Amino acid sequence: MQDLNELRDSINSIKEEIVNGVKEVRNSKALYEFKKTFLDSKAGKINALMKEMKNIPNELKAEFGKNVNELKNWAGVKFDELDASMKEAEAKQRYEDEKIDITMPAVKCSCGKLHPVTLVKNQLIDIFASMGFDVYEGTEIENDYYNFTALNTPQDHPARDMQDTFYLSPQFLLRTQTSSGQIHVMENRKPPIKILSPGKVFRSDDDATHSPMFTQMEGLVVDKGITLRDLKGMLEVMVKRIFGEGTTTRLRPSYFPFTEPSVEVDVSCFECGGTGCRLCKGTGWIEVLGAGIVNKKVLENCNIDSNEYSGLAFGVGVERLAMLKYGINNIKLLYESDLRVLEQLDE
Ligand code: DAH
Repeated sequence: MQDLNELRDSINSIKEEIVNGVKEVRNSKALYEFKKTFLDSKAGKINALMKEMKNIPNELKAEFGKNVNELKNWAGVKFDELDASMKEAEAKQRYEDEKIDITMPAVKCSCGKLHPVTLVKNQLIDIFASMGFDVYEGTEIENDYYNFTALNTPQDHPARDMQDTFYLSPQFLLRTQTSSGQIHVMENRKPPIKILSPGKVFRSDDDATHSPMFTQMEGLVVDKGITLRDLKGMLEVMVKRIFGEGTTTRLRPSYFPFTEPSVEVDVSCFECGGTGCRLCKGTGWIEVLGAGIVNKKVLENCNIDSNEYSGLAFGVGVERLAMLKYGINNIKLLYESDLRVLEQLDE
């Protein structure tokens, strides 16, 4: 560059380039990049102009410098103004996009709660724990001995047909009853024994009131002089706590290989108070569990002297109690996790 005329042309064309260029710029980020093509200290076009100073005759240097500085200031102010207005618009847009309408009703966040089967199971544990029972949790896979043989149900015993068993091998099976826990406990503890054994049990059985997997709670007491009266007394406490103070129990003769005598325990109908309704099928009583006095053979199988000790045992279906308590007529409703159902079943 030789003279000021040439400089003025350059200045005008840069100004024009800036004025037209910014019209295409859409946001502050693009503006920043565009600004750099003019004002970057290394590659910027305006700074490049300054470097022409060395080719300018001395007497023109001051004027040259002044003009380039004016251009620099003009461009600086222009870019700053644009940057400020773009950033303001961008912030405004962001506030708009991210605006929270605090007057809107909140999305309802429902809180989880315990499943009815768990509630009843916990309630049973509370009731019997208050009578001094310990909890023993057995295993879901059992061998034939604990599930059947030791419970006085040898291989060819007809009572094996009472429960359709899932066998895993000739020796192992999915326990069909928590009664197997009785044997484990009696093998490992000396009387007095007072245990409660909750857990899942499995049977090939499937209809409105039966499921291949369900929950049982076993009770076992072994001590000197245990009789059916102890059993009845404990179960009376249980039904009153679960179904209400007005309820009572009655024992009916029944048969289980591991108890002698065996009983079926009915609770007086909590729906009609015993006068007869649909729930109790007009009888005033509802069957709730099986129980009995531990068969001497079972005590002997566990090396407990049946002349010195006697025991009581009971086994209750937790789902059955939950269905009665909450008025559910199909056991599947307890497993489908349908919130419309579960939300209705509260304590
Ligand atoms: N185990 C029995 C069943 O699953 C229930 C049962 C009946 C358990 C009588 C007991 C009992 O402990 O004494 O059908």
